[in-house]
Formats: sequence, C-alpha cells, structure tokens
Amino acid sequence: MVKSKSWTMVRHFEGAPKPEDFKLEERELPSLKDGEILLESVFLSVDPYMRPYSKRMMKPGDVMIGSQVARVVESKKPAVVVGTYYVANVGWTTHFISDGTGMHALSLDWPENLPRSLSLGAVGMPGCTAYIGLLEVCNAKEGEVVLVNCAAGAVGSIVGQIAKIKGCKVVGSAGSDDKVTYLKEIGFDEAFNYKTVSSLEEALKNASPEGYDCYFENVGGKYADVALQQMNQFGRIAVCGAISMYNDSVPQTGPYIQPVMLFKQLRMEGFICYRWIDKFPDMQKQLLQWVSEGKLKYHEHVTNGFENMPAGFIGMLRGDNIGKAIIKV
Ligand SMILES: NC(=O)c1ccc[n+]([C@@H]2O[C@H](COP(=O)([O-])OP(=O)(O)OC[C@H]3O[C@@H](n4cnc5c(N)ncnc54)[C@H](OP(=O)(O)O)[C@@H]3O)[C@@H](O)[C@H]2O)c1
Repeated sequence: MVKSKSWTMVRHFEGAPKPEDFKLEERELPSLKDGEILLESVFLSVDPYMRPYSKRMMKPGDVMIGSQVARVVESKKPAVVVGTYYVANVGWTTHFISDGTGMHALSLDWPENLPRSLSLGAVGMPGCTAYIGLLEVCNAKEGEVVLVNCAAGAVGSIVGQIAKIKGCKVVGSAGSDDKVTYLKEIGFDEAFNYKTVSSLEEALKNASPEGYDCYFENVGGKYADVALQQMNQFGRIAVCGAISMYNDSVPQTGPYIQPVMLFKQLRMEGFICYRWIDKFPDMQKQLLQWVSEGKLKYHEHVTNGFENMPAGFIGMLRGDNIGKAIIKV
C-alpha cells in the first residue's frame, strides 16, 4: 500500500495565509486498476493564484490546489511507461492515481542539463503567461517601452527578457535590492526597488522619461494608479495579476481610471493564460529553445521538503523568491 500525504486548507485565509491554516493529512491509496497509473511528486509549484482561487474554488478541508511535476512509479496503462514525467494539476499531494486525463507528458528528450521544474516556471504556465500577456495582449513592438512589476518573479522575469528579445526597452520594479541586481543581470534596461524609492512617480519618470507603451500589470492597487499616469498615448495594459489586493478583506477604493484611459486612449485587458491553452505547446517549445540557447535566463527559489510547502507558499507571497518558487520533495 502506498501512503499519500496532502496539505489541506483548514479554513479560508483571512489576510495573509498563516501556517495554522494548513493541515498535513495522510491516506492509503488503493491498488491500481487496469488503465490506471501511480505517480509520485518530484517538484510542486506555489503560485499567487492559489490565494484568490482558494476563495473561489475551495472549501475548508479541501486539498490545496496546484500543479506539480510527477514521476510514474507504477503503470497499468500500456501507453504510459514507468519512469516518465508528467505535469499534473492534482494539488498539494505526494502520490496520486490517475487514468492519464488532465495531465501532460514532459517531452522524452527533455534536455539533460535543465531541471524538469522549469515546466512549472519559465517553460510552463508562468512562462506562457509572460509570452501571452506581452505579445498577444500588449502586442509589444520593437522600440517600445515596457513596464513590468513583480519583475523578479516567475512571470515578470520572463516578461522582461522576452521584451528584450523582441527589441523593446524594459523597466522593472521589484521589492528588494537583490532583486534589482538580478534584473540588471538578466538584461533589464532599468530597474528599481519600489519599496525604497521615495516616489514611485519619480522612479517611473526617471526610468523612462519617454513614458511607457506597454504595462504588464501584476500588482494592481496604488501602484497601478501611479503607473497609469505614465502611459503614452495608445498605450496597452495587460492585467495579469493584482497581488497587492489578494489579501484584502475589504476591497480597496482609489482614484478612478476612466479619465486617464480616455485622454490617453489606453487599452486595458484582463487575461487568464488558459484562454490560449491550445497555443501552450508551441509557446513552450519556443521558451525551451530560448532557455537552451541562453537567451532566456531562469532562477528558481527552491524550498526543500513537502512538509515545508505552506512555508514556501507564505514566503513566496511575502516576496522571498527570485524567479519561480518551487517545492522540491
Ligand atoms: N493571468 C494569468 O493567467 C496569470 C498567470 C500566472 C500568474 N499571474 C499573476 O502574475 C503575478 C505574478 O505571479 P508569479 O507567479 O510570477 O509570482 P512571483 O512574482 O514569482 O511571486 C510573487 C511576488 O509578488 C510580489 N508581491 C507580493 N506582495 C506584493 C505587494 N503587496 N505589492 C507588490 N508586489 C508584491 C513579491 O515580489 P516583490 O519582492 O517584488 O514584492 C513576490 O515575490 C501575480 O499577480 C499572479 O496572480 C497571472
């Protein structure tokens, strides 16, 4: 009998998630039936969406939602070979039985020198999100100026680098000096620590006196109020996330955006990456190629041990990570 461990959500989060909001549970899995496979997790992903989606999709006692890279340890499905790897959206759990639906196999010729955890980050959902938001939603063009916040994170760090590949000028903001150093290392033209600048408005103006054509929005709230004022005529804003608002119990109110949207003739579009799910394989191929060629740098913030998964999640929301936050079992 195989024992599976899972992290469940004890209660809905109030403000920032806390360690006591999670419970580690164990259960025995049944024997495999024909057509089924048994998988064990190797890497798990912790992502900001888990905070708002826990409220929308989960009830107390449910296993935390999320994706992982898992290895096949037993197979009663002829097409699935023991030892192969899959990305599966099965939540925070160490072992699971599947009939293969809702999972996708990692390419058998995955490069030896690259960690498979990249399929949860630069070459996975966050990488595709960066690609879509920048190229499909913002429609960024060579010579334009791109602003991205959460710039040192899983999505933001890829946004900036794709923008450079496409010939844009890139400005990024992040929450520590180490993150700013990292952004410069991976090719951002300008980067600043939004927590220590005396004025966000001045920092944005100094970084790009010529304004911004594209704004890849990950933060929302007060940051957006200031950034929108720096947009150029016909600027495009891809609303990818609003992490500064995810822990709010009382919705924020603020300056209203209609005047700036109107007089600068801006276009703002919210997007969820899975609208482009059919294009994921092509995008992933391109992202993997850029990574292999060294054109796209990646960094992972790895938390070791499944038992530390809540701490890894809480730390990522707090800003501990440079690049993709990963849990290594
Ligand atoms: N629309 C989609 O399909 C889609 C898909 C994936 C992700 N997203 C969104 O993209 C954004 C980035 O996600 P990610 O996976 O790349 O996460 P990430 O940037 O790797 O990690 C989250 C980062 O958010 C920053 N942060 C936390 N609280 C903040 C606050 N109050 N104000 C400003 N920054 C704050 C922290 O960095 P600092 O140190 O810089 O503060 C932290 O490192 C999130 O908003 C997420 O919801 C959307």
